[in-house]
Amino acid sequence: HKAGEAGLLFEPTAKPVPAEERARLLIDPGFGRVFTDHMAIIEYDEEKDWHGARITARHPFTMDPASPVLHYAQEIFEGMKAYRRPNGGAALFRPDANARRFAKSAIRMAMPPLPEDMFLESVRALVRADREWIPDTEDGSLYLRPFMIANGSFLGMRPSTQFIYAVIASSVGAYFRNDSPSVSLWVTREYVRAARGGTGEAKCGGNYAGSLVAQAEALRQGCDQVVFLDAVERRWVEELGGMNVFFLFSDGSIQTPPLDGTILHGVTRDSLLTLARDMGLAVREEPYSIEQWKADAESGRLTEAFACGTAAVVTPIGSVKEADGTFTIGGQSMGPLTARLRSALVDIQRGSAPDPYGWTELV
Ligand code: COI
Repeated sequence: HKAGEAGLLFEPTAKPVPAEERARLLIDPGFGRVFTDHMAIIEYDEEKDWHGARITARHPFTMDPASPVLHYAQEIFEGMKAYRRPNGGAALFRPDANARRFAKSAIRMAMPPLPEDMFLESVRALVRADREWIPDTEDGSLYLRPFMIANGSFLGMRPSTQFIYAVIASSVGAYFRNDSPSVSLWVTREYVRAARGGTGEAKCGGNYAGSLVAQAEALRQGCDQVVFLDAVERRWVEELGGMNVFFLFSDGSIQTPPLDGTILHGVTRDSLLTLARDMGLAVREEPYSIEQWKADAESGRLTEAFACGTAAVVTPIGSVKEADGTFTIGGQSMGPLTARLRSALVDIQRGSAPDPYGWTELV
């Protein structure tokens, strides 16, 4: 054992994946299937506070069957990426934004907020330990998945007093695998993702568990992602199964649903809003109804739409299917304004353009 960088103990794995095997896995990793050699762990209990911070070999957890996360889903997570830099280093994108959101999610789920510096140090240390796992491909990156679970052994309905925070890392390529130049959406009328006062803006596993049946419905309809409408009027577009949504108009303006308590505060969403404003585009964070979307797509007032998130980056939306028919958007491929916003973002993330916002952090 030696004290690693950033105050975490570094226990290197005794069995790293051999370099040739790793190189083979990195050729076409897909999304979320290839994992690195190490993980970060920090434990919490009421008496000891946060303790035991370490980078160690990636390994299975052993937990009591009465551990509360297994019953009541007291769990939160984050998604962020590290990009390979030409000099052999790596860069994180707005990790401070993820650290802040993680702490907010923790509070909503009655969990102890992890101090933001511990979050940042754990992520940096894992990237340093596993930087060889960042694919050297055009859309490759290291997807980092910080998460926190309630641990212990009791079935009473109260917040746990013991937690495990961990970070795992996955070598990834593009999230959407299909060869189509855009994705297709299914508008669910049966299921709702979140209501005001609920957990919609926390990044907790339960939100995603509740969305799976609707996402499965979308896949059965031959679509890539589900669109959720608001819980009250069932007409305002909120977000997709695992990403935010933007609408682009023929007058050059752009719109995205407002953060009204039910929508995930996407870091990609926020970054694109900033980039669009600085490009001089008219930007609206205002509700947009599904009827309006259809009418605008049909009249040509709406020319492009895209999904965005850490995993999805910026992915054009080509068609939207409802029970009574499908409408298409623009040329069903990457439109010019989507392409402009996407490159403005990706060029900063990958270091091929200057970073006037201080969004990237070299590790
Ligand atoms: C992300 O974009 O990082 C997410 O958490 C979404 C998930 C569908 C992978």
